[in-house]
Amino acid sequence: MEVADGPGCTAKEIHGCDQRAPLIEFHHASFQRPLRLEQRGATSESFVQGTSSVLWPAATKLATYLCDGDDGRPGAPGGRPWAALSVLEVGAGLGLVGAACAALGAKVVLTDCGVAVPLLKRNQELLAADSVNVEVCQLDWGSKSDESAILKEHGQFELIVGSDIILSSFDLDKLFSSCYALLARSPEARLVLAFEFREDWEGISNFIGWAEEAQMEVQHQELGDPDDEIYLYIFRWIL
Ligand SMILES: C[S@@+](CC[C@H](N)C(=O)[O-])C[C@H]1O[C@@H](n2cnc3c(N)ncnc32)[C@H](O)[C@@H]1O
Repeated sequence: MEVADGPGCTAKEIHGCDQRAPLIEFHHASFQRPLRLEQRGATSESFVQGTSSVLWPAATKLATYLCDGDDGRPGAPGGRPWAALSVLEVGAGLGLVGAACAALGAKVVLTDCGVAVPLLKRNQELLAADSVNVEVCQLDWGSKSDESAILKEHGQFELIVGSDIILSSFDLDKLFSSCYALLARSPEARLVLAFEFREDWEGISNFIGWAEEAQMEVQHQELGDPDDEIYLYIFRWIL
């Protein structure tokens, strides 16, 4: 990950993220040119208090993991070719993880709560200028009307991705219910989350508990440098 220079871009990167730079670039050998996305940090005039308009380290790690391939094999988690996949990103923020899936060839819908949608639409434009196409929809976790609108337009998804969305202060039961409604019921379907540990295992433990009650199994592993304490969780149906 490299960060573009820009006015006010003075902060050092933390785990590969500079949350003040107006533009971030994600580089990977799979892409001829970097993915460029706008962010609106606390020093930006467009910063909206209470939303996440900056990149978080787990997003970079998850995007890199997906671009590298599933356990070193080319293709998406679940063993499917990217071009055959429909992908939903939940709590997308800037939309980096979904953008990486789109650049790999998947059909992608980026989602976040209503106040975060304008930034996702801005990044949809930036990506389109680089020939990476994504759809953007509002998804407030647990909102049946948002879920219905997405299902009507796109159907269920073979892959749902999310980075740094498991925080105990968030509505995690609602996040789980949206994932439950939107994940396709197939043996290949996967819900893939990158979780940054912040002295609290309760959120991810609860989430795993709900998944197990819903007949899902989960695998986990470290994502990148163990010192970063970022973990990958992959859920799939027991069918
Ligand atoms: C820490 S940020 C992570 C953003 C991005 N995934 C990343 O890793 O850079 C958490 C994200 O979850 C979203 N979020 C939190 N609660 C939500 C809810 N109830 N419904 C939809 N999105 C929510 C926020 O708007 C924000 O984009």
